[in-house]
This record gives sequence, structure tokens and C-alpha cells, in this order.
Amino acid sequence: RMSFWWCLALLLGSVAIYSAHECDVFTDLDLHHSIIGTSLYVKLLLYTRANLICGQELSHHNLSAQPLFNVTKPTTFIVHGYRPTGSPPVWIHDITQQLLARGDMNVLLVDWNRGATNVNYLKVVTYTHDTADNLTAFIRNMQENGASLSSIHMIGISLGAHISGFVGAKFNGKIGRITALDPAGPMFTGNPPEDRLDPTDAQFVDVVHTDMDAFGFRKPLGHIDFYPNGGADQPGCPKTIFSGSSYFKCDHQRSVFLYLGSINRTCNIRAFPCSSYTEFLDGRCMDCDQFKPAGCPVFGYDSIEWKDTLVPLNQTRAFFTTNKQTPFCRTNYRVDVVTWNHDTRWGYITIKLHNGAEVTEATINHKASKFEKYSETRLLAQFDKDIQKVYKISIKFSTGNALQPKLKLRVLRIRLTHLERKDRPLCRYDVILEENKELSFRPIPCEESNF
Ligand SMILES: *[C@@H]1O[C@H](CO)[C@@H](O)[C@H](O)[C@H]1NC(C)=O
Ligand SMILES: *[C@@H]1O[C@H](CO)[C@@H](O)[C@H](O)[C@H]1NC(C)=O
Ligand SMILES: *[C@@H]1O[C@H](CO)[C@@H](O)[C@H](O)[C@H]1NC(C)=O
Ligand SMILES: *[C@@H]1O[C@H](CO)[C@@H](O)[C@H](O)[C@H]1NC(C)=O
Ligand SMILES: *[C@@H]1O[C@H](CO)[C@@H](O)[C@H](O)[C@H]1NC(C)=O
Repeated sequence: RMSFWWCLALLLGSVAIYSAHECDVFTDLDLHHSIIGTSLYVKLLLYTRANLICGQELSHHNLSAQPLFNVTKPTTFIVHGYRPTGSPPVWIHDITQQLLARGDMNVLLVDWNRGATNVNYLKVVTYTHDTADNLTAFIRNMQENGASLSSIHMIGISLGAHISGFVGAKFNGKIGRITALDPAGPMFTGNPPEDRLDPTDAQFVDVVHTDMDAFGFRKPLGHIDFYPNGGADQPGCPKTIFSGSSYFKCDHQRSVFLYLGSINRTCNIRAFPCSSYTEFLDGRCMDCDQFKPAGCPVFGYDSIEWKDTLVPLNQTRAFFTTNKQTPFCRTNYRVDVVTWNHDTRWGYITIKLHNGAEVTEATINHKASKFEKYSETRLLAQFDKDIQKVYKISIKFSTGNALQPKLKLRVLRIRLTHLERKDRPLCRYDVILEENKELSFRPIPCEESNF
């Protein structure tokens, strides 16, 4: 066990190292500043592999004043949004460090906290244009020092997404990439493209919407727009105002946490292009042949790998669901069911997969599914984790109607196909599901069939 004195020595040691390097930090304000309002100051904090945690403030006018800033390397700007309480965003260290773990680059944290901290949101919105003009001048300076626009990636959060768009427009869309994390809706929804982010602002624009019914933007803004869990309410986020401030920011902030998980590859989330979230849940968008051989786009940082396919399509909306917390990724199976009841049955299916050590469950209940004699019902089952070597499957059928007599679902064949792994689909033939009674069985490899 470390002694108190040892801890103190470590602490003092690190303070000494810090002060030797003189780290510059993100502006820390409070509610008081927000109430009286702040005027705009754009501070650029540089992080590189040589100064992972010790930010260095850059001069806007003399780039050679900071030898760690090597403009021939790729540069990623991180632009935050509205800061009603004045506190630094909780994710700044994670995002800078995870980006630097992925690539040798300059990470420029754009600290416009003075400006973004104001109870008057409308005032902050006017600062988005000033911040964009300031960053545009800085990037021009970078260009004069040898930087190329295509090696610039701007990650904009909320209002920061529109700031990035304004900057991109000044360079006629020649900036390499803009990533928008839950772009702000209020005061931007309904604006023409020049007054908001749009796909012409960069060579590749990827967007994630997690709070489109409150602080976020509903309509697509990029070449690809990801709508996790439909884009409005995120699992694990409070549904009532009694949960305090997390009620206001949880959905909005989820976009950042999902993106972080994609930078560090905690899990690869496959997103399914589809015309609507309902169609996706209905299992009508599981076919990724259009994106052969890579398959459907992966959400987040690595979606750039689909650029050449996505840009010619102009606009793609892609959907997926997530778990309540990290790891957010879920595992998708296609479920094909053929029944032979005389009368059509409507109901919900719950599936459990077991491998002896673990079990995972999927409930397909966004609406009642229709089971019609001899026709195939196709469903999407989403499990919270990936279970390998499934040795037992449990299935339950329910109609949700407690008043009528219990019904049976006569299954001719049920087939489960993992959408990612190339495993052979799992089947079971000829079973009768009694309503609300779980039936467990050992799956067998499917036979070729005409169904
Ligand atoms: C950008 O903002 C900083 C601080 O707010 C300022 O020092 C700098 O001169 C600005 N750049 C331009 C081109 O106005
Ligand atoms: C820029 O910074 C470098 C290094 O500190 C210094 O030598 C140079 O004189 C500065 N240039 C200008 C124009 O201030
Ligand atoms: C700047 O980065 C380039 C590309 O990584 C590298 O070749 C060059 O040596 C670097 N310059 C300095 C001064 O470190
Ligand atoms: C990756 O990022 C997620 C989200 O911030 C975090 O929960 C997870 O611990 C990180 N994983 C690693 C290996 O750093
Ligand atoms: C994309 O947009 C361009 C320009 O508006 C248009 O010519 C092209 O047909 C569009 N492509 C698709 C797949 O819609």
C-alpha cells in the first residue's frame, strides 16, 4: 500500500514537472460568469504525442513560436458548444488522449469558453460566427506555413458543429473532414445551408444525432448522419426532470461518449442505412450488399473509410441501437420465422442465447410482429453482448393480450443469422411456442431450404 508521504511526494513531483512545462489549461468559469455574460476569447490549446496531457496555448499570429506545432502533420480541431455553467467539458482529456493514441497529429482544443459561457444563448449563437472567422484566419496562417486543408479534421460538438461548418464554407469545402456531434438545433433548425453545417462544408461530413427533440438538430446535415436509438432519447438517460442537470444534457452528451468509444475501438458499431428508424427496427434494412465488400458503414471515427462510397450517394441516414452504458455496441441477428397456424398471429418474441457461461436477451417489441401461415417473418434481434458458441436458445412468444385465451405459435422453422460473423445460421424446426412460456432448445445448423 502506498503511504501518505509517498503519495504526497508523487503529487509534488508531478506538480513540479507540470510547472516546469507550464501547461496551459482550459478556461474554468462558473455560474457567476454565465449570469453577467462573457465576451469572446478564442484560446487554442495544442496537444501532441510529445505533450499528451500538458496543453500549450498557441499564438494566433506566430506559429513558429511553438516548436511542438508541426503543421505538416494532420491537425484535428475540437470545438465545444454552449457552456451554460462555465465549467470545462468533462471529456476534453479523453478525446485529446484517445485521438493521439490513434494517430500522430496535432490536436487543437478550441477553448472559446469565454463567449460560450452566458445564460443568454442568443448571444452565444452570435459568437459562433466570430469564432469561425477567428479559426478561419488561424487556418489561413497554417496554410501559409505549409499545412494542407485536406489534412484538417474538425470535430464540432453542438454549436461547435456549426462553427466548423462556417469555417469549412470559408474554404469552399476543401477541409478534409468535419465530424458533428449532436449539432445544435435551437436557432439553427430551418436555417438555409449557409447559416448552418451542410455537406458542402468539407470533403467528408459525418454527423451523429442523439438529442434531436431538444438541443440537437433533427434533419440530416452531412454525407452520413447516424441516428443512434433513433436520434432522440438515449437508453440510460433520465426521462424526468427530477434527475437534475443530467436530464438536460445526458442525451446531448451521449454523442461524445459514443464517438469516444469509436476512437478507441471499444467496439465497432455497424450502422444500417435506412429510410427511417421504424423501418430499421422492423428488420427491413439488414442487407448491406450495397456497400460490398466492406459492409454497412461503421459508426464514428472510422466512418471515413466509407467516404468514397458515401460521398457519391450525397446523403445517407444510418441507424443502430446501443446499450445504456459503455460498451455501447450491441449484437444484431436476423431472425426468420415460418409458421403454420391457420389464423394469422400477432405478437412479440423474446430470444435468449446461452453459451453455458453467459446469457444475452433480445426482445422484439417495438410493435407486434405478424406471423402468417407459410410466409416468412423477418425480424431484427439486438442483443446487449456477443455470445460465441451458442449452445442453447430460449424463445418466448406473447401477444400482450391478457384477456384472451392463451395462443400457440406453431413454428415450422426459426433461423438466426449473426449479421457480422460469417458463422452458419442457427436453426430449429417444428416447435410449438405456447404463449408466455419460454421454450429452450439446442440449435442445429440450418438445412438449405426453399423458404
Ligand atoms: C482570434 O482570437 C484571439 C483571442 O480572442 C485574438 O488574440 C486573435 O487576434 C484573433 N484572431 C484574429 C484574426 O482576429
Ligand atoms: C515568432 O516566434 C519565434 C520563436 O519564439 C521568434 O523567434 C520570432 O521572432 C517570432 N516572430 C514574430 C514575427 O514575432
Ligand atoms: C514534422 O512532421 C513531419 C511529418 O511527420 C516530419 O517528417 C518532420 O520531421 C517534422 N518536423 C519536425 C521539425 O519535427
Ligand atoms: C474507450 O472510450 C470509452 C468511452 O469514453 C471508455 O468508456 C472506455 O473505457 C475506453 N476504453 C479504453 C480501452 O480506453
Ligand atoms: C448527388 O448530387 C448531385 C448534385 O446535386 C447530383 O448530380 C447527383 O445525381 C446526386 N446523386 C445521387 C445518388 O442522388
